[in-house]
Amino acid sequence: MDSILVKGSGPLNGQIPIAGAKNACLTLMPATLLSEEPLTLTNAPRLSDIKTMTELLQSLGAEVSSLQDGQVQALSSHNIDNHVADYDIVRKMRASNLVLGPLLARLGQAVVSLPGGCAIGARPMDLHLHGLEALGAEIELKDGYLHAKAPRGLKGAVMELSFASVGATENIMMAATLAKGTTVIKNAAREPEIVDLADCLTKMGAHIEGAGTSAITIEGVDRLHGATHPVVTDRIELGTYMLAPAIAGGEVELLGGRLDLIGAFVEKLDEAGVEVTETEAGLRVKRRGDRIKAVDVTTEPFPGFPTDLQAQMMALMCTAQGTSVLDEKIFENRFMHAPELIRMGAQIEVHGGHATVTGVDRLKGAPVMATDLRASVSLILAGLAAEGETLVNRVYHLDRGYEQVVRKFSGVGAQIERIKGG
Ligand code: UD1
Repeated sequence: MDSILVKGSGPLNGQIPIAGAKNACLTLMPATLLSEEPLTLTNAPRLSDIKTMTELLQSLGAEVSSLQDGQVQALSSHNIDNHVADYDIVRKMRASNLVLGPLLARLGQAVVSLPGGCAIGARPMDLHLHGLEALGAEIELKDGYLHAKAPRGLKGAVMELSFASVGATENIMMAATLAKGTTVIKNAAREPEIVDLADCLTKMGAHIEGAGTSAITIEGVDRLHGATHPVVTDRIELGTYMLAPAIAGGEVELLGGRLDLIGAFVEKLDEAGVEVTETEAGLRVKRRGDRIKAVDVTTEPFPGFPTDLQAQMMALMCTAQGTSVLDEKIFENRFMHAPELIRMGAQIEVHGGHATVTGVDRLKGAPVMATDLRASVSLILAGLAAEGETLVNRVYHLDRGYEQVVRKFSGVGAQIERIKGG
């Protein structure tokens, strides 16, 4: 298994291009199942999760071609001849559950294994299922598989999610595009990836209003057609690389970065003493003083501070002046990076969903183990600020969500290399 070696680097300077969003692409790709005509996605990120989604869609009968070195995904669901999403593929990635709504809408039936994904909590699917049942689907769980059917088609309904789940909003929104009549999703998720999906579905002929607000209205249509759509910028990759100069010093420009994608995060960086300015090409980031100030962070659904940046923010807080409290409100088990950061000399106490971090002058390099996607990159960030060498093991998690991670960090002067494992 490969690992990544990071050497304490000193200031970072230069530019980092930000890719299209993994989480947007993973919901845009299954949207192909809603139409017989081709869907072309540009600005796609080159990640192993995208390959997993490709494999899943191909297993259903879709054609997926990766063009321009993976930055264009050309999809066609002209012949969908299978409605079973197999455990062997689904267990690799939770986002596989996003084929459920589109398959049901297109074929009137779907059998989808309960997903796996990052081990960051229970992550049930009850909200997806309640929403699809409200649209008239009958769903039962047999042998680890969800068996869903809607023999007379789906019917629009008004529903309210008990929590603004991203995946549930996406699954229900996709299913509702082909339902008869009007669907209203109240307490819908407002993440930029939802807006991106709505934009793409609209290009495909869907009637959707309110994406990006808590109430989304979808007027069902008989059929959707083909479209070409650029994937929105990855706000989590953006936030991650914004932390590099905050931790290591220097000044880095994030190409394609947008403030509207990442407002709550930028507010916290500002409080911590990090300057973020808009440029023509994106965002420029640099630390105001020598030392970061401790700030408290609570993760929330968008537009709040994203849970997917909590681990990376913790890495920054490890060397801040003072004590910060990180409150994780989205996933109950998302501090698995804390014991690894402690091995690097961080002072962190975790009690349930709270972590208290007392900044130290300098972290020390150590061999560490990546436990999930965002945890892995937080260890690389910590390694940039550490004295000596940090060896991050199990980097396959990183390959799921960060394209060309070594090239992007080393492009701004970080001393980082990938070491091939057996
Ligand atoms: C998506 C993102 C993930 C991000 C998360 C929260 C993708 C592919 N992944 O995941 O990177 O961390 O949003 O921003 O887009 N829940 C339920 N029942 C459900 C569904 C969710 O209780 O039916 C709970 C989950 O256990 C979790 C919370 O709701 O505690 C948030 O989950 P959700 O917003 O659905 O996240 P995902 O769509 O899985």
